[in-house]
Formats: sequence, structure tokens, C-alpha cells
Amino acid sequence: MAQRVLTTESGAPVADNQNSATAGVGGPLLIQDQHLIEKLARFNRERIPERVVHARGSGAYGYFEVTDDVTAYTKADFLAEVGKRTELFIRFSTVADSLGGADAVRDPRGFAVKFYTEEGNYDLVGNNTPVFFIKDPIKFPDFIHSQKRDPFTGKQEPDNVWDFWAHAPEATHQITWLFGDRGIPASYRHMNGYGSHTYQWTNAKGEAFFVKYHFKTNQGIRCLSSEQAAEVVGSDATSHQTDLLQAIERGVNPSWTLYVQIMPAAEAADYRFNPFDLTKVWPHADYPLQRVGRMVLDRNPDNVFAEVEQAAFSPNNFVPGIGPSPDKMLQGRLFAYADAHRYRLGVNHTQLPVNAPKATVADNYGRDGFMATRNGSRHDKNYEPNSYAGPSQTDQALSAALAVSGWTGTHAAPTHVKDDDFFQAGELYRLMSEEEKGRLVANIAGSLSQVSREDVIEKNLAHFHAADADYGKRVEEAVRALRED
Ligand code: HEM
Repeated sequence: MAQRVLTTESGAPVADNQNSATAGVGGPLLIQDQHLIEKLARFNRERIPERVVHARGSGAYGYFEVTDDVTAYTKADFLAEVGKRTELFIRFSTVADSLGGADAVRDPRGFAVKFYTEEGNYDLVGNNTPVFFIKDPIKFPDFIHSQKRDPFTGKQEPDNVWDFWAHAPEATHQITWLFGDRGIPASYRHMNGYGSHTYQWTNAKGEAFFVKYHFKTNQGIRCLSSEQAAEVVGSDATSHQTDLLQAIERGVNPSWTLYVQIMPAAEAADYRFNPFDLTKVWPHADYPLQRVGRMVLDRNPDNVFAEVEQAAFSPNNFVPGIGPSPDKMLQGRLFAYADAHRYRLGVNHTQLPVNAPKATVADNYGRDGFMATRNGSRHDKNYEPNSYAGPSQTDQALSAALAVSGWTGTHAAPTHVKDDDFFQAGELYRLMSEEEKGRLVANIAGSLSQVSREDVIEKNLAHFHAADADYGKRVEEAVRALRED
């Protein structure tokens, strides 16, 4: 094979990549050494801002295959035919820690899927938990500040973590989930994924349904205890990355089965709790799981930075037949992600190969900005409407319209018959075996007992008492015992 020639960024051959140019032997460097200057300057600019949350993650390519007919509920083309396959990219992540954080930690996991459909990219940006800590996006920056590293100590502080939760009774359900057995997945392959929010599907007749997505792992759920996780972190801080990478390289392609829960839109208003409340699940007895298809991951990215770090998922990337629900958290996210991408990656991030549509092309009048590569030809007008056969609108709404009424204002979420913050946390606790309850209580107490202020502890204990009397009593006893030690 012919020897490749090392070049500068402008393509000129490099004469010496071992010695920089100096004024005489042992003399100072010469600014005319273009290769040295360019190499150092470029190196200084290798890092981009890390994601403000979900900074650490792993990605893979694969496909989605429809196994069941859901055309009665959605006109989405990629779901239109049993057997149809759509290429996808997924990024799994931890949430709270920075890019250099460890994988095997007690934390939710991100589960962000980009379907490269023929009608544009559809991003389903979920987690491995069916619920979340809060239900109004206005609380998100405070919540995340309390969970990430403290600005003074530079590490996560139980004082901050639990102080936020002391003021967020709606977090009790998600806390019960997080400190339970599923709180530390053994790997990204051995966990489920959830859309978490309620979304809207619209069928070809224009009928609307509300849906929740569930990706069930076909590898089986596997989790780590707190003790096992500490060992794993000590021996391989990048354990989830190692596992996913090696499995796919070996050809052991992980897969998930996608199910949805479907609620006819007319049932939402009178459902016994707010069906758009992200801190609650819909019982399967009310809305059973219906199978949709299978997701298979079969290819590792060639370059982690280009394809995983620069991947940009946004919950507002919908396709015809799928749209948002009035969930306030989801509505907040519809803004937050693309805004983050414009900051983190720049306005033309949608032109990067991992983010650009693959089964169709983006064709619009967006122009210019840093790093524009798709800017139209000499024949393309940069305004619309025009008389030159440029792209024009379809007049077909992507999803059905939602009725709204009332006054503008900073309203609390609408109340339904049974909207309290605790009953589903109690139901989850009571579903657990005696051993699971013991581990849950020990995990919570291990963390809560480190809090320095009694009043913060008291407020949190009150939430567990409100969820279930036995739950509250056992957490309280365990916290007291640890604090007396
Ligand atoms: C109002 C609440 C929320 C806000 C404002 C918010 C905001 C953000 C932002 C700014 C990012 C970084 C995006 C980037 O730089 O590429 C992010 C990442 C992410 N968020 Fe959220 N988030 C919220 C709630 C949620 C919820 C409820 C879920 C799951 C159901 C979720 C799942 C994710 C995932 C999976 C990522 C990582 C995406 C990737 O792999 O690139 N977030 N979020």
C-alpha cells in the first residue's frame, strides 16, 4: 500500500512532524512553522461544551422493524407496514455526572432514539424510567443544580440532593424507583427504555390518541447492588461503554421490543389522575401494552466524538402521525433541546452526518451561519413563496389539534379525582418483595442519613410516610440507626 502523505489542514505536505522549527539549533521557535502553530491551535479547540445533563453516554446504530399493525392509531409512515425497517441511532447516558463520570452509578439512564424515517428524523428522547422527578419544566434547572456537583465542594452533595427533594413531594415515586433494585442497571443492554411522557398519535382519519412508549429489553433486566456497583466502578469506570461496544463488536446484537399504551384522546379529561403528569404511570390494567416492533442495535459508531458526542436529539423532531401532548414538562423540552444544540454544536448541527436525515433530505430556506454546508445551489431561491419551484408547504398537519380553554397565567396542573403525589410511590413499594423493600430502605437511608440538617431529613421522611406507613416507618428507623452510629 502506498505510504499516505501527512498534510496540513490546507493539504500541503508536512516535512517534519517530530521537530518544530527553531532559529538555529537550540534557539526559540519560529512563528512561520505553520504545521506547529496549526497543530497546537487546533488541539486547543478539540473540546466542545459537554451536555448540561446526560454528559456521559454511549451510542450505536441499528434498525427498527414493525411487527404489529398500529395503523388504526397513527399514520406515521415508518410504522405503516408490518416488516418495514427504519435505520436508527441510539444514545444511552447517565444523567447527573460530567463527561468523565463513571457508568455504574445510581442514576436514571438516558434512552434517546433517532429514527431516520422517510418523512424526516423522529427523535424519541426517553429514559430507562417510566416517570420523572418533577412535573413542571420551570423547576428543571434548580433540580439539576441540586443533583450535579456542588459549586464549592466540586462533588455531588447529599445536602443538596435531598434538600431539593424535601421541596418536591412529586419526586417520591421516582425516588422510590431510583433507590430500588433497578436504580443501577448492570449495563445499557439490560434495562428497559420509556418515552416517559404521554405523546399524541394521529391516524389517517385524523383521530387522536395519547400514547406512552415502553421498550422492553430482550436481554432481560439485570441490575447491580450498591456494593457490586462500587466494585465495578473501581475496576472499570466505563463499564457500560465497554459492555455495549464489545457486545456489538462480537455480533451479539442487543434488541428491545417496543410496546405502547394507547388512550383514546376523549378519555384524557376524565381519567382519574392527570394523564399528562410525568410523575405517574398509567396502570396496565387501564391501558394494556400493545406490541409495535423490535429495535436491534448492530453497528458501533466509527468515531465517538463525531457520532456520539455530536449527536443531537430533540423531542420536537416529530413526523406526521406523532405529536406532543399538553404535558408541561414535554412542552418545556420542546424548546430546551434544539436550543442546547445551537449552543453546544452550532446552528448547523442538523447537517452533521449523525443528525442529518438519511432516508429523505432536508429542503428549506434556512441559510448561512457557522459551518454551513447545505446552502443551496445557484438555482435555489432563499425565500418562499417563490416562482422557481422551490420547496413549499404540504397543508397537512402532522398531528391532530388539541382543544384549549381558559386564561393565561402560571397555573398548577389541572386537578383530577386522584392527583396526589404519593399513591403511586406507595403502590410501587407494596409491589416489592420483602428483600427488595429491605434494599430500597437501606439505599435511601444510606444517602439520606448523610444530610446535615434534621429539618431536611424530616421533610423527606414525611414523603415516605405519606406514600406508605410501613415504608415511612422503616426508612425513618434506618436513617435514625445510621445517624446514631
Ligand atoms: C423540563 C425538563 C427537561 C429539560 C429542560 C431537559 C433538558 C435537557 C438538555 C438541555 C439536554 C442536553 C441536550 C444536548 O446538549 O444535546 C438534555 C439531555 C437529555 N435529556 Fe433532558 N431535559 C428535561 C427532562 C428530561 C426527561 C423527562 C427525560 C426523559 C424522559 C430526558 C431525557 C434526556 C436525555 C435522554 C438526554 C440526552 C440526549 C442525548 O443522548 O444526547 N430529559 N435534557
